[in-house]
Amino acid sequence: MTAPTTPSAARPTPTILGVGAALPAQLITNAQLVARLDTSDEWIVRRTGIRERRHLEAAESLAALTATACAGALDDAGHQAAEVDHLIIATITPDRLTPGLAPAVAARLGAEHAGVVDINAACAGFLYGLDQAAALIESGRARHVLVCGAEALSRITDHEDRATAVLFGDGAGAVLVGPGAPGRGIGAFEFGYDDGLADTLYAERDVRRLQMAGQQVYRHAVARMTEATQQVLARNGVSVAEVDYFVAHQANARIVSAVADALGVPHEKVSFNVEWTANTSAASIPLALAAAERDGLLAPGSLVGMVAFGAGFVWAAGLASWKDTVTQPQRST
Ligand code: ACO
Repeated sequence: MTAPTTPSAARPTPTILGVGAALPAQLITNAQLVARLDTSDEWIVRRTGIRERRHLEAAESLAALTATACAGALDDAGHQAAEVDHLIIATITPDRLTPGLAPAVAARLGAEHAGVVDINAACAGFLYGLDQAAALIESGRARHVLVCGAEALSRITDHEDRATAVLFGDGAGAVLVGPGAPGRGIGAFEFGYDDGLADTLYAERDVRRLQMAGQQVYRHAVARMTEATQQVLARNGVSVAEVDYFVAHQANARIVSAVADALGVPHEKVSFNVEWTANTSAASIPLALAAAERDGLLAPGSLVGMVAFGAGFVWAAGLASWKDTVTQPQRST
């Protein structure tokens, strides 16, 4: 048994070192849904911003897709699977009820020394994982933590219900969190919940289909994500203008737009990745981060604001530095 490490005076500052994403090959366009449901491309795009989503085939595993996203994050960071101390996977749709996804994903990666755990906080799950990863690194209990959001929402969607069938997709995204340069690091998070509204968004254990009172969820999503972002900025002493890029949970482009407008964030600093993925619950934020990195919207040292809201209701907001590994030389006076 290894002795617990004692936090030293110079606590490691966690940062996001790398990002990876994986989407299933099977593409489901709005046109395909229009062919079998009473809906239209115009309605879906105008009300949600969604143009396409991906679904796993019945024979495919979410674990394999998730391992691809994690391998991408390790590769992007230039680290090996053997260096991973913990693998935290946020999901509401593991391949089996038990075991969770994490052991199978770790085995596929060859992360033989990793602690492995699944967590469930619906759409906010990835941010809970990121907070826990930051705490593990700051305390000295871990050096590298893979945090992943992975969902196969197509497996709990009623594909005959036009009100929900158009909204959900599958995918996996991951980040490697590790020690960075002293600086902002991964700041204090804000978390909240409202169990009184649990019946507006849920799936039962036996009837495994997402049920949603869309308009109620919409209103609360905008209000809670706006408040939580304002709180997390205030708590960390950061202004809206100091944040380089914002990722809100990708449920609906109108929700993201309303939150950005309420906060006063220009839309060019905001992710609208929902267009290409639909709502992927816990996977939505890391998928959006990977897309932003691919599109050159993030740079080493960028400060990223993130906020999520979903079933529970459970919400979370946080700030993270992006690939902030280079200590700036002290200026001589
Ligand atoms: N195509 C055409 N018409 C439709 C469709 C469709 N796919 N779906 C619903 N409609 C109709 C409705 O039947 C209704 O018709 P009616 O006026 O004749 O009764 C009309 O469109 C308006 O329906 P609303 O539900 O009021 O539509 P709204 O503009 O609210 O959009 C939506 C619905 C997209 C679901 C929106 O409410 C929303 O995005 N809600 C929040 C989703 C969310 O944030 N989820 C959180 C996370 S999910 C998770 O945790 C896994």
